[in-house]
Amino acid sequence: MAFNLFKRKYTPRPIFATLGVDMHCHLIPKVDDGSKCTEESIECLNTLSAVGYKKVIITPHFQYPRFPNKEDDIVNRYNELKKQAQDAGVEIEIAGIGGEYRIDSGFAQRLEKPQFLRVAGKYVLVEYSLHQQMMGSDELIFDLQMKGYEVILAHPERYPYLNVQGMRMEQLKNQGVFFQINVLSLGGFYGEEAKRKAYEMLDLGWVEFMGTDTHNTMYAQALSDLSRDRKIEKVLEKHTFMNSTLL
Ligand SMILES: [Fe+2]
Repeated sequence: MAFNLFKRKYTPRPIFATLGVDMHCHLIPKVDDGSKCTEESIECLNTLSAVGYKKVIITPHFQYPRFPNKEDDIVNRYNELKKQAQDAGVEIEIAGIGGEYRIDSGFAQRLEKPQFLRVAGKYVLVEYSLHQQMMGSDELIFDLQMKGYEVILAHPERYPYLNVQGMRMEQLKNQGVFFQINVLSLGGFYGEEAKRKAYEMLDLGWVEFMGTDTHNTMYAQALSDLSRDRKIEKVLEKHTFMNSTLL
């Protein structure tokens, strides 16, 4: 049948079962640069399930002024998606809502009146700008920690101005910031530099969490392709991560 032409060429393998929980993705429809509709979210959730994940925590962007999301609204939309996914028979458990908070010019204000949606009710997932560093961003993470929050820095391998051998990254690690690498970085999805840094951090034992950072079906397809890679499976087996402690 013609329909079969559009089916995936390969069956995904459940190599991410050892992680169990995906704790970084953008699958609430139409709230950021992630999924564009419920159908796309459901397709991505099914792929996460097919590559081995049992649970997922969704983490929409909170970024000033690009994504002016409000926590209450996000929680409502999360509950809506959860119901729609259940109705559609999605197997992966939609197990929590967090946020990916950009350390930007609006972040100091967030710190004054904290309403953070935390990963597993515990960790604030933060990200830096992907292009240029903002003065004082490390200090804002420190301020967040001083307020008693546990902090996870999303995809440290992706910031071109942060080097694994540099003082800044080591300082963040020394002050107890958890690092989360994107699984797709291991296959070169974000380029050779991010890939190299990801492996360097793994070898240093600096990586506590792995996330998919799935935004849409293109990412889901890349994950599905990556699940065929035995080398990636070995990397996941070789290192110990904290994903399974989340839920
Ligand atoms: Fe993200």
